[in-house]
Amino acid sequence: MLKLKLLGFLIASFLVFCESALVDTLVKCSIKDDECMKTFYQSLIKKLGDNGAPEIGINKIEPMKLKDSTVSILGVLNITLIEGEVEGITSCKITHHRVEDSLKKVSLRILCDRFVIRGHYIMEGTGALFKGAGIENDIHGKGNGKIVIDKIEVHLEIPLRLVKHDDGDIYFKPQIEEATYDFNVLGKATFDADNIMIGEKNASEDLLKFMNENWKLLLQTFGKTFFDKAIDFVHIFTNKFFENIPVKKFILEDLSSYVN
Ligand SMILES: *[C@@H]1O[C@H](CO)[C@@H](O)[C@H](O)[C@H]1NC(C)=O
Ligand SMILES: *[C@@H]1O[C@H](CO)[C@@H](O)[C@H](O)[C@H]1NC(C)=O
Repeated sequence: MLKLKLLGFLIASFLVFCESALVDTLVKCSIKDDECMKTFYQSLIKKLGDNGAPEIGINKIEPMKLKDSTVSILGVLNITLIEGEVEGITSCKITHHRVEDSLKKVSLRILCDRFVIRGHYIMEGTGALFKGAGIENDIHGKGNGKIVIDKIEVHLEIPLRLVKHDDGDIYFKPQIEEATYDFNVLGKATFDADNIMIGEKNASEDLLKFMNENWKLLLQTFGKTFFDKAIDFVHIFTNKFFENIPVKKFILEDLSSYVN
């Protein structure tokens, strides 16, 4: 019995220790100090990249593991990453941060050096997206694929709310689902995939050549689909972070007058 109690105590202390590990290492900033806030987000990305924050349910985000993640491109081409990963989140730098005086909106600019998305995929669709390459038949594929995006800049405007939880503390509640964004690839995108079949013909080589020559047009067409998917993931871990860590742990000011 005593042993069990001791074990329970050890587990509890371990959990508390883990939690304090992330919380206690957070940079504390004035909400108006954009340079400091940039450093805060930067070090948060680094920490979540290295270790995640298991105590609040955030797995290590570098690389980020994906499973059964489907994007439907304009309803005509469905691509599922059965098992894969995204690498490069820690290559992102926060280049701009600004919070409106009312604290109702934050504006961020982020520059990421390189994203690599790779894994096992299944693809099913019509040739409609690739009319430009003279493709009429259905497309299907199952194999390994990779997308590399060099130097992408993202501009995000995220509505914010401040809420008081039952513990009496104040928490940020970013409204990611209402965020607006735009992005610009300053480098380029490169696609690679084996076993893309058009009808019964292995068209990997021809199709990839077309995609790699026309990546700009393709990103204009379906970049948003991928980006919306990426935002879903950002949503999951920002929610976990901000729902669990009160603002007093990283903001110097008392923000109670902004609770709404
Ligand atoms: C793609 O998936 C959507 C939703 O699951 C489905 O309605 C659509 O028919 C699929 N398109 C193709 C080409 O398989
Ligand atoms: C299709 O072609 C690609 C590259 O040309 C090759 O890597 C792949 O193994 C081929 N797949 C099949 C099923 O023949």
